Amino acid sequence: MKFATTVVFLLGTTLVSAAPGFPVSRGRGGFTRGRGGFSNPSEGGFSQNGGSNGGVAGAAFFMTNEPSGNFVVASNIGRDGRLTFARAVSAAGRGLHGLSADNGPDGLFSQDSVKVAGESLFVVNPGSNTAVMFSIDPRNPSDIQMVGNPVSSGGEFPVSIAVNSKSKDVCVLNGGQVNGVACFTPDPKLGLIELPNTVRSLGLNQTTPATGPAGTVSDLLFNAAGTQLIASVKGIPPNAGFLAIWTVAADGSLSPQFEAVTAPTGGLLPFGMSLIPGNNNAIFATDAGLGFDVFDLSNSGANSSATTEITSAAGSNTIAAGASSSNAVNGSVAVCWSAFSPKTGNFFVTDIGTSLVTEVHVDKKTLKANIVKQYPQTPGSATIDDATATINGNDFLYVLAANATTVDVLSLPAPGKAKTIQSLNFSQNMRNAKVTINPNNLQGMAVFVN
Ligand SMILES: *[C@@H]1O[C@H](CO)[C@@H](O)[C@H](O)[C@H]1NC(C)=O
Ligand SMILES: *[C@@H]1O[C@H](CO)[C@@H](O)[C@H](O)[C@H]1NC(C)=O
Ligand SMILES: *[C@@H]1O[C@H](CO)[C@@H](O)[C@H](O)[C@H]1NC(C)=O
Ligand SMILES: *[C@@H]1O[C@H](CO)[C@@H](O)[C@H](O)[C@H]1NC(C)=O
Repeated sequence: MKFATTVVFLLGTTLVSAAPGFPVSRGRGGFTRGRGGFSNPSEGGFSQNGGSNGGVAGAAFFMTNEPSGNFVVASNIGRDGRLTFARAVSAAGRGLHGLSADNGPDGLFSQDSVKVAGESLFVVNPGSNTAVMFSIDPRNPSDIQMVGNPVSSGGEFPVSIAVNSKSKDVCVLNGGQVNGVACFTPDPKLGLIELPNTVRSLGLNQTTPATGPAGTVSDLLFNAAGTQLIASVKGIPPNAGFLAIWTVAADGSLSPQFEAVTAPTGGLLPFGMSLIPGNNNAIFATDAGLGFDVFDLSNSGANSSATTEITSAAGSNTIAAGASSSNAVNGSVAVCWSAFSPKTGNFFVTDIGTSLVTEVHVDKKTLKANIVKQYPQTPGSATIDDATATINGNDFLYVLAANATTVDVLSLPAPGKAKTIQSLNFSQNMRNAKVTINPNNLQGMAVFVN
């Protein structure tokens, strides 16, 4: 079996090979940080809410991932869920596009390059091998401030960030030649502080930047209990991809090896992951190969009562079993991103190729899944990263339509009732702010709600 060979190769790789990632040439391109002089438009009077925050319920963030300088683009979310462009803020590092046949949108092949947790925002600089922390002022949430300095991501081509909801620790997924994870403690004054014993290799045979989308890392997240760190990795067809699961110790350190859980039969390219509320041992993952996968992890090594410590990736390599399933989305080209909406109880996944948003229901007990409805967005707009927000009891979906330089906003009043209420074209705003964008580089979507 070909995949087993790959796992043996993982073991042959030096686990601490991420070391060359430290130290990092921070500010290599001469960027200054935060509110410094690097054409930070927040100082340039582009704020459209005129300093008034009366109608602001939150903020939505994505990043430019430009090689000449990565910027966080922040928009205010009104009480009606609609967006107003606010500002672009330097992330003090460089963006970088992965290598692919078309070099089109989704240059990182990832979800969660931009992440909100509490009153903090975390962003990767894929071309500088760094991660950055910002603080969010809840009274003016688009006015983010860098905390500390960018820090080494502990590897190359960082593309995704996860935050432990229990400990608040922050982990970064690196997808380049030096690939794997590394974790940090977010300090409110100093920013990201390296967390010992968390630099762990995935041992993928990759390049910097990554060559994909097949065979690249996709997404990173913690389970609800904060006891597992889970990375999704796409397969190289016909070989299926897998979830890499590290056990998180009480001090935040990670098990030396990960457990590899191969996608359920039919699954190929696990991509964006979401937790399934009400089920602590299952993961919802989009699958660029056919639609989406449901991983039932209740019998995986880390969750079985017989095994408390993972000692060998190869030894614990399993194919997702139990109630796991792979599921086709009709007409899909590449369903890659997912977000859960509490009000509807459903997942909303996006397809970069069809620009369709698909609503999916997963029963939290049986893990049986069904497609609720599909919602066409602008053809050719390349709908990528998405995120949901609950505002005054109403849910909204924010979709980065990279090729159209828009963020599409859908209201989600009830299951099967999503409706596009806005398409914010930020192209002119960015021109006014003198911030370079390229539809092929734009990435990420995260929201903060007061
Ligand atoms: C790594 O990938 C390259 C490019 O596909 C290939 O030439 C090389 O043989 C691979 N190395 C290993 C150890 O599999
Ligand atoms: C899939 O979508 C196509 C085009 O919309 C439609 O013709 C076909 O019947 C659908 N198939 C299923 C199984 O829903
Ligand atoms: C992006 O838009 C261009 C021109 O409108 C189109 O040719 C191309 O196919 C689109 N790309 C994607 C990935 O949708
Ligand atoms: C967005 O705005 C730009 C500049 O104003 C324009 O060229 C582009 O066509 C607009 N895109 C859409 C999808 O309307």
